[in-house]
Amino acid sequence: MQTILIVDDEKNYLVLLEALLGAEGYEILTASRALDALSVLRESDVDLVITDMKMPGMSGMELLEECSKLKPDVPVITMTAYGTIEMAVEAMKKHAYDYITKPFQNEQLKLTVKKALDAHRLEKENRLLRQALSDRFRYGMIIGKSKPMIRIYEMIDKVAQSKATVLITGPSGTGKELIAKSIHYGSQRREGPFVTVNCGALAETLLESELFGHERGAFTGAVAMKKGRFEIADGGTLFLDEVGDMPASLQVKLLRVLQEMTFERVGGTRTIRVDVRVISATNRELRKEVAEGNFREDLFYRLNVINLEIPPLCERLDDIPLLVKHFIEKYAKPQEASKIEVSPEVWKIFYNYRWPGNVRELEHVIERAIVLNTGNIITAEELPQELRGASAVFEVERFIPPDVPLHKALETIEERLLRRALSHCNNVQAHAAQMLGITKSLMQHKLKKYGIVI
Ligand SMILES: Nc1ncnc2c1ncn2[C@@H]1O[C@H](COP(=O)(O)OP(=O)(O)OP(=O)(O)O)[C@@H](O)[C@H]1O
Ligand SMILES: [Mg+2]
Repeated sequence: MQTILIVDDEKNYLVLLEALLGAEGYEILTASRALDALSVLRESDVDLVITDMKMPGMSGMELLEECSKLKPDVPVITMTAYGTIEMAVEAMKKHAYDYITKPFQNEQLKLTVKKALDAHRLEKENRLLRQALSDRFRYGMIIGKSKPMIRIYEMIDKVAQSKATVLITGPSGTGKELIAKSIHYGSQRREGPFVTVNCGALAETLLESELFGHERGAFTGAVAMKKGRFEIADGGTLFLDEVGDMPASLQVKLLRVLQEMTFERVGGTRTIRVDVRVISATNRELRKEVAEGNFREDLFYRLNVINLEIPPLCERLDDIPLLVKHFIEKYAKPQEASKIEVSPEVWKIFYNYRWPGNVRELEHVIERAIVLNTGNIITAEELPQELRGASAVFEVERFIPPDVPLHKALETIEERLLRRALSHCNNVQAHAAQMLGITKSLMQHKLKKYGIVI
């Protein structure tokens, strides 16, 4: 719903305009002083301002100036009494969108308002589109071609086409948010907004009004109406991060919204309908939270229509060389990136380290190393202490369950080594064979055996 803020010190005009435009289906906010109007502007999402010019205290002209500083995208229509057209001209110079003269013709007023709102919507859509393009460029790059990642790409492509609710699970720093964005930008909704709410970061009541918005006066401090993230995400995707941390009372409310796509703002009675795709993420084991009674089972099933489970980095070591290259390119100066190498000792550490912070930790390690690096080779000295101390011993316990027959276990290790050598050598078989100290034909034989396709 589009929201219009009307500012006039004459109560009669406020009432008249509110009735006239309210009947057109717009949401109307009113202020009788320019100063009040500014605080409404600050607090609420307003799509259009209609202001009288002559008011005691701050004038309409000053309000116009403040408004263009505060919310440069929001169009302002000024109202001037007949005969003071110079003032309207002056206002147009200060970027008013249009003006109307009092007394006005109802039809003409409606038309002017519609024109301004259409222009505003177009401008907003264009901005979202530009934002989407740059986000896509910035976030669209999911790096990795290990088996689990390839399965995830396939899932992303499939789920992007549907409106199904997706739950992304996985430990911290595995790229859950990145994947949520990829689903959004790969979907029909890509031109709509991608809106994030961190359900773990806010106190219960704040989170409620953040999600669903609130009406003016809903609680102390609610000086103006505010739209919630569900409303802002209309036509796009809402990403509920850390959904496992959501308080119980809000879980009930969320369930209803997911089922009906309708809700009321806090302190409001009007039912608001939205069209939103919900993607949620958590690094908690939600099933366990359900079993322990911390998370509603019905909500869990609603959120978990499709589950994308992102494995920790230590279970997809094949992705490390590509990620390292990617982060070097991201953080090094453009002319230097291609010259930077990683010492053999560092590679060894990277493959043996447990990576509790997953990809995010690897990213920080590379960023730090590049800052500290003086030559072109990243050495162990440039790694944080916890990595330098990482045991270089292959942790059998972590990778091979105790009841696996020896030849199976060795095959698992062999396949890993082959994949690792290949991605390290950019899939040049001859180099990988040389690195592993085997002939090229033995290499080919083994690739076939394990079904490794390059
Ligand atoms: N496969 C990947 N390719 C490129 N960058 C990645 C990948 N996975 C993660 N990253 C980067 O690692 C950082 C952390 O990713 P993200 O914020 O998506 O993780 P998360 O799973 O949401 O973590 P948390 O649970 O802590 O919120 C980001 O900078 C992201 O760009
Ligand atoms: Mg996250």
